[in-house]
Amino acid sequence: MPQRVNIGLIGTGYMGKAHAIAFKAAPTVFSLSATPVCDLLAEVTDELAERKARELGFNRSTGNWHTLVNDPRIDVVDICSPNYLHKEMALAAIAAGKHVYSEKPLALSAADAREMVVAAEHAGVKTLVGFNYIRNSATQLAREIVASGEIGELIHFRGRHNEDYLSDPTLPHGWRTKRMTAGAGALGDVGSHILNMAEYLTGQQISDVFGQLQTIIPERPLENGEGTGEVENDDHAQALLRFESGLIGNMETSRVASGRKMGLAYTLTGTKGAIVFDQERMSELQLYTQAGPQARRGFKTILMGPEHPDYVAFSPAAGHGLGYNDQKIIEVRDLIEGIVGNKALYPNFRDAWRTNALIEAIERSHAEGRWVHINEM
Ligand code: NAI
Repeated sequence: MPQRVNIGLIGTGYMGKAHAIAFKAAPTVFSLSATPVCDLLAEVTDELAERKARELGFNRSTGNWHTLVNDPRIDVVDICSPNYLHKEMALAAIAAGKHVYSEKPLALSAADAREMVVAAEHAGVKTLVGFNYIRNSATQLAREIVASGEIGELIHFRGRHNEDYLSDPTLPHGWRTKRMTAGAGALGDVGSHILNMAEYLTGQQISDVFGQLQTIIPERPLENGEGTGEVENDDHAQALLRFESGLIGNMETSRVASGRKMGLAYTLTGTKGAIVFDQERMSELQLYTQAGPQARRGFKTILMGPEHPDYVAFSPAAGHGLGYNDQKIIEVRDLIEGIVGNKALYPNFRDAWRTNALIEAIERSHAEGRWVHINEM
């Protein structure tokens, strides 16, 4: 009989549903060493938890997340709540000896993230953070191409993650626009993805940043309809990046970039070629190499197919395409194999702490008008 891994899911909004889909689908897509079981679900009330457990296919429900983290049958606590709850929930789960799968950004601050790293490493539990875009076939391929030296030595990284989900000024103040519940704004939300991606793709750590942040819509209607409130974090941000090897690059991120729906994109330039990618066309990778005569050189489009990382598990047919939720299914495969096979997981709490430190370094750089080294965080 295959081993079972009992999952306790906290939060059933956008991400909670995506995680539930992934847990259900992962054993169908991949041949797993153990089966994830959607066992217990926690929401803010008993009624909501019960309804969501029915909809998402969980065995049991509770209106109190403390009950979930202390349940002896739960192996993995999966945190899909707003950012400000990640730390408290993760520390409680770790204290109860559970493995923790958390959404990003890991915490509101680098200091909080650090505390979570220390607790998890001391307890010896496994951790994984939901920077799912690195699981896309095309992005896994980009990393392989860089690592193989096919485009020579990397000389530049350019990355952005721009969306327009808050470009409408009539959209209300929510947890994402408040410091106490979100931490940084676009920089922490979508910007965290491109910072993690920069380190994943290059295989190098960012050491120094020079940042700039802006809030474009300073006030938003309050959720209770009574007047407006001040937006407490950035709507967009950009930064110059310096990696430990001396490699240079830049990043930009926005939640008010009109027209950009899933604008995570990067260009990796090497001494012998380049890679260009845009998540709005997530099945395509553009590759330029210096092979062949000058008159025939140019970027070619590689359409993902069964020869590319993790694609064939979903489909034997080239060019049919993976989607956003498939990245989560791959992430869940890695989670289960990491736990059952006791393998290292990436990005774990320590890796995600780096991302929190980079976010804070960019904010400090903006405030003080100078380059900031990550070790200052
Ligand atoms: P959401 O607002 O749609 O859902 C949050 C859920 O948490 C709600 O169902 C809410 O009722 C529940 N919740 C709040 N307090 C709770 C409590 N005390 N106990 C139990 N449940 C509670 O938020 P969304 O968009 O799903 O974001 C959740 C997390 O996922 C955030 O950290 C966010 O940054 C991250 N995220 C990650 C994405 C990715 O691509 N990896 C995409 C979107 C969000």
